[in-house]
Amino acid sequence: MTLSICLTVNGVRKDVILDDPRVTLLDLLRERLDLTGTKKGCDRGQCGACTVLVDGRRINACLALAVSLDGADVLTIEGLADGDRLDPVQTAFIARDGFQCGFCTPGQIMSAVGLIREGEAGDDPERIREGMSGNLCRCGAYAGIVEAVLDAQRLANEERRVA
Ligand code: FES
Ligand code: FES
Repeated sequence: MTLSICLTVNGVRKDVILDDPRVTLLDLLRERLDLTGTKKGCDRGQCGACTVLVDGRRINACLALAVSLDGADVLTIEGLADGDRLDPVQTAFIARDGFQCGFCTPGQIMSAVGLIREGEAGDDPERIREGMSGNLCRCGAYAGIVEAVLDAQRLANEERRVA
């Protein structure tokens, strides 16, 4: 049985034929669309390494069946920068050393982008830790991650004031 779905991934329409309805969004991204920035950590919804935005909301791509996402808009780490211009969250992670080995970083950044877009980051480090609690970091770079999210949220607030 083959199934045909259409997704918009990082602004580009993708028509995909699935041979198996059990293919996850994570495997589709990594193995079919060559978007390997989204990482596979646990493959069971426990680490957040596979976080992407689907229709603007954060999800664990390892838990989502691709077939259930026909028509969805998917944003991965590869689609975040505008050419050479990094997203402010990416810039903040670099400035604040919000990573060590980098394995969890794409998921952390996508989760932070989602948190800020949801209006849930605020200026309270504890609230950010709670909002990012689904994203584990084996290197323990949490202090820098929280600082980066605070910086990016501050910048987003300033841009909103100026606009
Ligand atoms: Fe998806 Fe760990 S790989 S949550
Ligand atoms: Fe190594 Fe987070 S930076 S797992």
